[in-house]
Amino acid sequence: MRIAVLGTGYLGATHAACLAELGHEVLGVDIAAEKIARLSSGEVPFYEPGLERVLKRNLAAGTLRFTADHREAAEFARAHFLTVGTPQRKGDFAADLTFVDNAVDMLAPHLSAPTVIFGKSTVPVGTAARLGARARRLAPAADEVEVAWNPEFLREGYAVRDTVHPDRIVIGVDRDRPGRAEQVAREIYAEALDQEDVPFLVTDLATAELVKSAANAFLATKISFINSMAEVCEVAGADVTVLADAIGCDPRIGRLFLNAGLGFGGGCLPKDIRAFMARAGELGANEALTFLREVDNINMRRRTRMVELAREACGSFLGSRVAVLGAAFKPDSDDVRDSPALNVAGQIQLQGAAVNVYDPKAMDNSHALFPTLNYAASTLEACEGADVVLVLTEWQEFRHLEPTALDDVVRERQIIDGRNCLDPDQWRKSGWSYRGLGRP
Ligand code: UGA
Repeated sequence: MRIAVLGTGYLGATHAACLAELGHEVLGVDIAAEKIARLSSGEVPFYEPGLERVLKRNLAAGTLRFTADHREAAEFARAHFLTVGTPQRKGDFAADLTFVDNAVDMLAPHLSAPTVIFGKSTVPVGTAARLGARARRLAPAADEVEVAWNPEFLREGYAVRDTVHPDRIVIGVDRDRPGRAEQVAREIYAEALDQEDVPFLVTDLATAELVKSAANAFLATKISFINSMAEVCEVAGADVTVLADAIGCDPRIGRLFLNAGLGFGGGCLPKDIRAFMARAGELGANEALTFLREVDNINMRRRTRMVELAREACGSFLGSRVAVLGAAFKPDSDDVRDSPALNVAGQIQLQGAAVNVYDPKAMDNSHALFPTLNYAASTLEACEGADVVLVLTEWQEFRHLEPTALDDVVRERQIIDGRNCLDPDQWRKSGWSYRGLGRP
């Protein structure tokens, strides 16, 4: 099928390349000329394992192209995906829908044939119905334009795998205007549906929008739950990692997403739970999601706790050197949006310490967001003369660090494991002081 994907950020670039991989002819559309140029030349503008290979293969095969021209997209495609960002609005919790609205405004006036627009961006419930009316008002094809919602569940770092092998496909259709959206979606995802027996759930628009908000709210809650247990473990002298292993054996609880540490960040979970609270309030369900405020608070407290532990280790930040290993919001990503690691590094520096940051992939993005921090070219360089080493993103490279490699580099043998990803015994046996979050 001929498909256009509007917005070529993390989500859109991956979705476009993977749809081509699934056998479709795909046109990626973006207003940023520089992004179009880089993607067209086979370069992924961010770090996502495996994506460059899929991108290059499909560019070479002629099944994937990029353009800045919405008219071209409208004439080319039978189905369109909206994959633009919905960041947090400046000054409040709600989602900023400028980009989704603009994408519809730029595309719809060129739609003169029957078309389905599938929204994938995470939006406040009610957005799909509103966009449908907006698109039909602007499009020459008018009532022949359908807006359906197909939420995205991919994780950065596993984006290609999650897109090509999804664990479920949810399609929200407009129950008031029965159309072809379900059929078109079945054709688009035919390979996954035929070969892998992936659950295919057809819902109304509002439910599909809420599925995504609910999934991210649950994941954030799970992380803050275990981090609240970490707080209790810290005062009780217990070990949250063992606690997580033990409760995780119960299949009703499950061990996944139960890693205590510095908490969640990134371009999704933090802003999604806030937008969800804001939307529930607008709709009159004021109390339904107040617990998410506590989830957010617990999450933010982990960052403060990390700063406190670092201060304890240094005595005073003034005149101290702090090595920060990790800047991305999680490993296998170069994304530093609302990164707990970078947030902690920034707080410590603002309080007077000299902070040296190293991350295997996120150096450029970190530098752009936080130019005043010192950036080192390697783990060893970051640790030079350090009074304390903080592991804030659990990259493999840091998990496998040998204490002996740092022995003669640091000033004080102190390490704080913000992701509970190191072996405390190994570090302690090597003469280091080791602290983990939520561990004795
Ligand atoms: C998240 C969801 O997992 C995806 O399903 C969703 O599609 C995506 O948001 C989105 O809305 O687009 P992502 O932001 O890529 O995906 O990252 P996650 O793997 O969810 O991690 C989020 C944060 O939680 C990271 O900072 C990570 O370090 C932290 N985390 C994760 C923990 O602190 N503990 C855990 O046990 C797991």
